[in-house]
Amino acid sequence: MASILIIDDERSIRKTLGEILTYEGYNIDEAADGEEGLKKFKEKKYDIVLCDIKMPKLDGIEFLEKAKESNPDVPILIISGHGNIETAVDAVKKGAYDYIAKPPDLNRLLITLRNAMDKTKLVAETKVLKRKISKVQEIIGESAPIKKIKDTIDKIAPTEARVLITGENGVGKELVARWIHEKSNRSSSVIVEVNCAAIPGELIESELFGHEKGSFTSAVKQRIGKFEQANGGTIFLDEIGDMSLNAQAKVLRALQEGKITRVGADRDINVDVRVIAATNKDLLAEVEHKNFRLDLYHRLGVIIVHVPSLNERAGDIPLLVEKFLENIAADYGQPKKNIDKKAVEALQQHYWSGNIRELRNVVERLIILSGKTITLEDVASYVLPNK
Ligand SMILES: Nc1ncnc2c1ncn2[C@@H]1O[C@H](COP(=O)(O)OP(=O)(O)OP(=O)(O)O)[C@@H](O)[C@H]1O
Ligand SMILES: [Mg+2]
Repeated sequence: MASILIIDDERSIRKTLGEILTYEGYNIDEAADGEEGLKKFKEKKYDIVLCDIKMPKLDGIEFLEKAKESNPDVPILIISGHGNIETAVDAVKKGAYDYIAKPPDLNRLLITLRNAMDKTKLVAETKVLKRKISKVQEIIGESAPIKKIKDTIDKIAPTEARVLITGENGVGKELVARWIHEKSNRSSSVIVEVNCAAIPGELIESELFGHEKGSFTSAVKQRIGKFEQANGGTIFLDEIGDMSLNAQAKVLRALQEGKITRVGADRDINVDVRVIAATNKDLLAEVEHKNFRLDLYHRLGVIIVHVPSLNERAGDIPLLVEKFLENIAADYGQPKKNIDKKAVEALQQHYWSGNIRELRNVVERLIILSGKTITLEDVASYVLPNK
């Protein structure tokens, strides 16, 4: 139930508003002047405050200023008498959510309250989401290969060394890249990701290095490329094995000279960027087939981190399943489901061609389709053999 603090020196107003809003399902507290109001405001977290302007001790504007200092997120709705509209407008400029005139029109009051509540909720949700996306997902696993990868990350992250991350689809290459950045001296700056496979060959150069206005037909505006965006931070070249030979030559130059040129520009730009690349291809085989430049391979792969497939570390599956059950339940805002030991064993027997990404999807599917506890039968019916 949402709680509202009503601050007004007129007892009759407090009483009427209090009765109406209690009837509407709100929890009401009252204060007879700004000082008492501020005291209550600091003691308890209200969803919204209704506040008169003219009051003894501390008036509405003074209350607003002090309240905003103490908790800026709580919306304050000013109720103003006839002569005070200008002051009320002033209050809104100072951060009040809105004002309504006395005597308050009931419908308008209720709608304004509901809107204010929605706003509070959005502000709170945005904060949670921001925290969520800014935190890099933990690397889960206790197996020897995972321990080794975490060790390697700790060792190489603080250096400036280029890193090439290899491994099958969905093993966690991107996650490794994000942790290398996170633990590096560049972590306060950005990591810019480029999916080289998703960009058509003719656009990759402009995507990576930017272009000047008018440099080609569709270049209607100047564009800053990913290398420039990543200046001071890290660039993550994902699926590098899918990059055209033409683009490879340009990237090679950027790595050799630390310089880039926007398409259509006549001068170079210095960039300070750490490069991390990833691929699910066997790059040396690609070199053999003349699809990948050997010199670029050597430039990129100063350090090679190979992320093993999930089938090579099936011992991590129970821990991963447990964490995914927890995380997915939290995302859905539901209690965590349990899973039978036999069901986990069956998941360990499964061949995971899509690795961790596939395992996570399967756990999500099981959560949706199974009862309170996920059983061996659920695994048999909902996880189809794929080998
Ligand atoms: N060790 C791990 N612990 C927890 N989650 C993981 C782990 N490894 C991978 N994941 C999760 O699995 C998913 C796939 O990982 P990621 O995108 O890093 O794989 P990838 O190797 O880049 O795959 P692709 O080659 O398909 O691009 C992501 O949601 C990631 O957070
Ligand atoms: Mg990836």
